[in-house]
Amino acid sequence: MGNGIAQVAARAGYEVVLRDVSEEFLERGMRAIDKSLQRDVDKERLKEEEKRAVVGRIRTTTALSDLAGAGFVVEAIYENLEAKRAVFRELDETCGPEAILASNTSSISITKLGAATRRPGKVIGMHFMNPVPVMKLVEVIRGIATSDETWARTRELCEQMGKTALECNDSPGFVSNRVLMPLINEAVFALHEGVATRESIDGIMKLGMNHPMGPLTLADFIGLDVCLAILNVLHAELGDPKYRPCPLLRKYVDAGWLGRKSGRGFYEY
Ligand code: CAA
Repeated sequence: MGNGIAQVAARAGYEVVLRDVSEEFLERGMRAIDKSLQRDVDKERLKEEEKRAVVGRIRTTTALSDLAGAGFVVEAIYENLEAKRAVFRELDETCGPEAILASNTSSISITKLGAATRRPGKVIGMHFMNPVPVMKLVEVIRGIATSDETWARTRELCEQMGKTALECNDSPGFVSNRVLMPLINEAVFALHEGVATRESIDGIMKLGMNHPMGPLTLADFIGLDVCLAILNVLHAELGDPKYRPCPLLRKYVDAGWLGRKSGRGFYEY
């Protein structure tokens, strides 16, 4: 999602530093940005020179120290509390005292990430939806210490990127995944119990409820490992058995069937 966030920020006119751990990932990210912008060029919604200007505003690096001058940082690494805490500690050391540190986490506590820094008032959740250039929502999560000023600046940034910011408090899974993941998990249980085929489950939700994608297709799109990580957070932190991940979801993740990104999930790609 990091490349999508970089793209919408650069398109809004911001100078962006895109940081990843290897050149290979950065190249992959820039290819995704190019492909996504090219769709708009092909549909004559963006001129070729505008596309070049957007790409030109994105500088790539593997060095976290290159974020030292940033006024606003959006972290989008994998869903793991310890890994995110380590990044927030490092960002807190690296960035200027005025910088806001946001996380694109889909379920991890913003309060915990804030506590890893000396600026918890300037730490906030900025949860983009996939595909980032298309989806209008940013779910903005306030940790217990997040200041009103940080929320106001974040909302303004979202609006400048053409997104609608909707505010919610820090609670496991926030609103989006507290509601979405039980739906996806229930669809996996239905498959697991042989209630219907994958095509029927998805077709019923798509044609019957007007969802743009069926829940199993959506799970493959999000990543089955991501879905499992979010369900584990909901289950552990809310303590209600209704959030227990379906054993079939666990088995697929164990097999490395992670959805679209690995070539196989509930469907083959
Ligand atoms: N970059 C830029 N544009 C893209 C794009 C991308 N990666 N992917 C699709 N698009 C654009 C297309 O160009 C097209 O634009 P126009 O209609 O303006 O011409 C539009 O999106 C629709 O695309 P398609 O016609 O190719 O395909 P579609 O109609 O099937 O739509 C979809 C694709 C937008 C992904 C749609 O299926 C959808 O909305 N799916 C549900 C997505 C969703 O629920 N996302 C949230 C997931 S949860 C999450 O992200 C958070 C979490 O914590 C888990």
